[in-house]
Amino acid sequence: MYITELSHNNENIINKIFCGNCIKIMNKLPKEIVNLTFLDPPFNQQKDYSLHNDSMKEEDYWKMMEDVCSSVFDRTITGGAIYFMQREKNTEFVLQTLRKTGWTFQNLIIWKKRTSAVPVKNKYGKQYQVIVYATKSSKANTFHRLRINPILPANYKFARENGIYVTDIWDDIKELTSGYFAGNEAIRTNNNQRFHKQQSPLALLLRIILSSTNVGDVVLDPFAGTGTTAVVSTQIGRKSISIELDPANVECIKNRINNIREADNIQKYYENYICTENLSEIWGIPTNIYNLNVVNNSNLFNVMVN
Ligand SMILES: C[S@@+](CC[C@H](N)C(=O)[O-])C[C@H]1O[C@@H](n2cnc3c(N)ncnc32)[C@H](O)[C@@H]1O
Repeated sequence: MYITELSHNNENIINKIFCGNCIKIMNKLPKEIVNLTFLDPPFNQQKDYSLHNDSMKEEDYWKMMEDVCSSVFDRTITGGAIYFMQREKNTEFVLQTLRKTGWTFQNLIIWKKRTSAVPVKNKYGKQYQVIVYATKSSKANTFHRLRINPILPANYKFARENGIYVTDIWDDIKELTSGYFAGNEAIRTNNNQRFHKQQSPLALLLRIILSSTNVGDVVLDPFAGTGTTAVVSTQIGRKSISIELDPANVECIKNRINNIREADNIQKYYENYICTENLSEIWGIPTNIYNLNVVNNSNLFNVMVN
């Protein structure tokens, strides 16, 4: 099926991977069908992408981001959410872009990397990325206050009774670094190289999707890369729409979804949120039927090429 044939029947769109430019594709999708969007675009930092120019003029790059945010806004239901991830030095541009396109700022999340800081001359080393959480309208219509139970600081005498609420500083999620330390989650080529250096950790998407959606909601990822958003969404009963420019990545997403690897099984994170009220309802599918073959249906995720 080609993108020009899209009808307003959402069944053509839900749980699909679209291959092409996200702005063109999103502009053809029906309005107000999305509950949550995760935006992890290339950061315009001269990285090597096979089909995307990561060395754009700053003004062209931010004009493109404005078009993306505006199209996502139109596709989002009132009270829906966006999480826009960027380098910390671009925070002001992210905030500006979201404001200009109608979004209401909620939080500036600091994702503190668990790796050592990147050394910089003449200023402090860099150790975090920002994720701006914003909503369409003044407040979210879905926000679950997740609770976690991180290791107690050394000076704490007593264990907590029931964990703590997640705040806007996320320092408990490991990024997939290069080399051996990226672990099993990182997808590798036959010669053991990382398939996609910007692959996001499952744990990051899990926190975002659990916080800002309910079972059955629609999650959009316009820069899908290896499909982490869809891989998480499908395991917790959310619907997904993935868009990716590079056909090689689209093929990777298709394989990843249809044959979910043990390393992609998100059930291992359930315990981390056990202190959360109504966790089983938010999580969706009970642990004991968490057989990943549920998504092993080649018709569930179809690739559409424009
Ligand atoms: C930072 S990566 C996203 C990684 C993703 N979060 C993951 O977990 O794998 C950005 C992706 O956007 C894709 N891309 C770049 N320009 C695009 C465009 N205009 N439309 C759709 N995808 C695009 C790139 O090919 C790349 O895979």
